[in-house]
Amino acid sequence: RQAELVRIVEVGPRDGLQNEKTSIPVETKIELVNRLAKTGLRTIEAGSFVHPKWVPQLDGLQMANSSKILEHVLQSPPPSPNPITYQWLLPNSKGLDNFFAAFDAYPSTHNGYPTPPPSPTTDNGPALNTSSQDPNAMPSSASGVDAMSQSQSQSPPPTSSSTHEVSIFLAATESFSKTNTNCSIAESLARFSPLISSARARDIRVRAYISVALGCPFEGPDVNPHRVAELAADLLEMGADEISVADTTGMGTAPRTAELLRTLTAAGIKNEDLALHFHDTFGQALLNTTVALEHGIRTFDSAVGGLGGCPYSPGATGNVATEDLVYCLHSLGAQTGVDLEAVSRVGEWIMGELGRPNESRAGKATLAG
Ligand code: HMG
Ligand code: MG
Repeated sequence: RQAELVRIVEVGPRDGLQNEKTSIPVETKIELVNRLAKTGLRTIEAGSFVHPKWVPQLDGLQMANSSKILEHVLQSPPPSPNPITYQWLLPNSKGLDNFFAAFDAYPSTHNGYPTPPPSPTTDNGPALNTSSQDPNAMPSSASGVDAMSQSQSQSPPPTSSSTHEVSIFLAATESFSKTNTNCSIAESLARFSPLISSARARDIRVRAYISVALGCPFEGPDVNPHRVAELAADLLEMGADEISVADTTGMGTAPRTAELLRTLTAAGIKNEDLALHFHDTFGQALLNTTVALEHGIRTFDSAVGGLGGCPYSPGATGNVATEDLVYCLHSLGAQTGVDLEAVSRVGEWIMGELGRPNESRAGKATLAG
């Protein structure tokens, strides 16, 4: 049976960099996006259009940065072996207006709307080998390349065309909602309804994150999974194209991840409408990923080098490292299209630029080997 495709959403340039304590030059951010685009990744969250005051790193300069990164991607799309979908995070209609202001400045350089992402197989049967890992079946970096060239041999020649989506975010608890977005959950939903309509009127796909779905820094680990399912249903009903269920604090455990996914399914949420977004604070992200794979989820978010953290989630560390996720998925027989060695080099490079140790074990081991 052919290896199943698992889609990785690289959030390093946004979720990864937003929590860095030192100012990062826009050239470095652009270089990060350029380098990631060459690794076989197909979806990259490249910036955010949020309020300058609200994220410590997002001073006026940083806000200008996201527009500059978007301008760069539109003007000179990063060379890539495959088409790339870029995502841009925004909290409200003002953010969408700012996004469109930059987007519309280069109308002839993009096709204006994204093509659907490569559709992962969505049957619920776990074709991936999550139960009996063969330790000898370690993926070489070539497995991602092979997967990529296989898919390319069946598709038109590689292009560097890019498409664009926006991502919005709300929280599963009132206290996190207030801290992160200065409004209640109900107010978030009310502000997103017209925003989603405006984006969809322009054929821009919308991804919606539900933060603190598996644990809240203020309300603890026992976030009500039924509340998460209601919010997912509401967002899909409003027209969101994908829900990224986020373990912002990394408090998620395997049993609670399984319970949350069962609750989402019981509420009628389809696996193909879901992504999972694990932060790795307690080192459970890959375990929870395998639980989600068993459940039939085929889209996962990660950040190169294990960059990241949410400014409003004290103590939360980075997203699961892309290198670790790719290594794990390849070992289970999945196809990601991502070249492990190439993405490991990007992780090593960006952590060096930031003066931080590389948080990806698979990345370090790959480069050492
Ligand atoms: P607010 O202060 O209540 O906003 O902030 P407001 O609507 O009252 O407006 C106040 C001023 O801000 C006005 O300007 C607006 O124009 C301006 P003034 O009239 O005073 O000159 N303004 C903006 N400016 C630029 N861009 C905007 C914008 N909106 C308003 N988009 C708001 C409310 C939601 C804007 C604020 O709380 C905010 O920006 N929050 C974002 C916080 C953030 O970025 N958090 C990190 C990202 S989320 C995350 O990391 C989680 C995720 O990774 C998943 C997970 O792991 O959980 C996605
Ligand atoms: Mg996050």
